[in-house]
Amino acid sequence: MAEKIDHGRRRLLTAATVGTGAIGVVFAAVPFLASWSPSARARALGAPVELDASKLEPGQMVVVAWRGQPIYVVRRTKDVIAHLGDHNELLADPNSDNSVQPDYIKATGAARARNPEYWVGLGVCTHLGCAPTSAPVRRGEFQVAGVDLGKDWPGGFYCACHGSKYDASGRVFKNVPAPKNLTIPPYALGKDLRIVVGVDDASQNA
Ligand code: FES
Repeated sequence: MAEKIDHGRRRLLTAATVGTGAIGVVFAAVPFLASWSPSARARALGAPVELDASKLEPGQMVVVAWRGQPIYVVRRTKDVIAHLGDHNELLADPNSDNSVQPDYIKATGAARARNPEYWVGLGVCTHLGCAPTSAPVRRGEFQVAGVDLGKDWPGGFYCACHGSKYDASGRVFKNVPAPKNLTIPPYALGKDLRIVVGVDDASQNA
């Protein structure tokens, strides 16, 4: 039987989650907000969106819009990166065989990123499309909607709509409603940490 979608709740959660991502920018990066603004060309539908990730703090996430969808950019902590491969047995698709991402991302294994420190992915739950909340701290006491992710939480994302959990590479856990890992869009990432979402240039690994 098809599951009913609470559209009002979804909109609220989406707004709250994007707002949460933006809070870090507001507090930590007000002086350089202008550098995150898409160019006039990027405002055209489907155009690539460019951002400067060099000023992100470890654990911080920002959200940019690309093709009308939220793109999460997270600077992962060294602790989270070091343990990305430690929980594959808990994941539904640890090698991203049944998930959507460019081949050059799949080839990076557990990192699912051009640069392990900067993760870029679509902030849309693969269950019914809510916006997962960033829960970036490994072994933190992260709580959202009354849910404690536990002392063994590896860092990642939590979708409060129906309880799907993803690790810090957007890989979905077993026994949750979401069927696939978070989608990763094509993007370029240069050594200057400028990320261009929507450009499929596989030569630009940082
Ligand atoms: S939309 Fe259902 S768990 Fe995310």
